[in-house]
Amino acid sequence: MERTFSMIKPDAVAAGHAGAILALLEKEGFRIVGLRMLRITRAQAEGFYAVHRERPFFQSLVTFMTEGPVIALALEREDAVKKLREVMGATNPANAAEGTVRKLYAESIERNAIHGSDAPETAAVELGYFFSAADLLLA
Ligand code: RTP
Ligand code: MG
Repeated sequence: MERTFSMIKPDAVAAGHAGAILALLEKEGFRIVGLRMLRITRAQAEGFYAVHRERPFFQSLVTFMTEGPVIALALEREDAVKKLREVMGATNPANAAEGTVRKLYAESIERNAIHGSDAPETAAVELGYFFSAADLLLA
């Protein structure tokens, strides 16, 4: 079993797609082992996406991620990191495969409904960013 971090982004929460996305993730075999709804601060968004700070879309991305509540998720299944990236679909929904979260619910390359950690090392850091070890041990 492996754990990964995911976040339902503000566009999908505001549009009322959170329940459908959680159902899709469970149908794909993910167990929800942590769940928090929160509004992230600009500083948190900047830290979370720091790897992109030199990219032209960085300020716009931070504004988007702070425009409304998000749902932070700790998810568990076999090969969770890789499998979540498959279930999410491509960053740009125009390139996302049928049935993926982004094909179904993303509005654009930026407002793309869901985040998922890109590697096991990143997942560990991102889980620690939003969940305490005690929270996850209880699940
Ligand atoms: P994420 O980190 O959110 O799971 O998304 P990702 O790996 O598929 O894509 P990444 O390259 O890490 O980009 C992070 C997020 O930045 C926004 N973005 N906007 N306007 C643009 O060209 C652009 N490119 C990326 C998206 O919200 C993307 O998910
Ligand atoms: Mg990424």
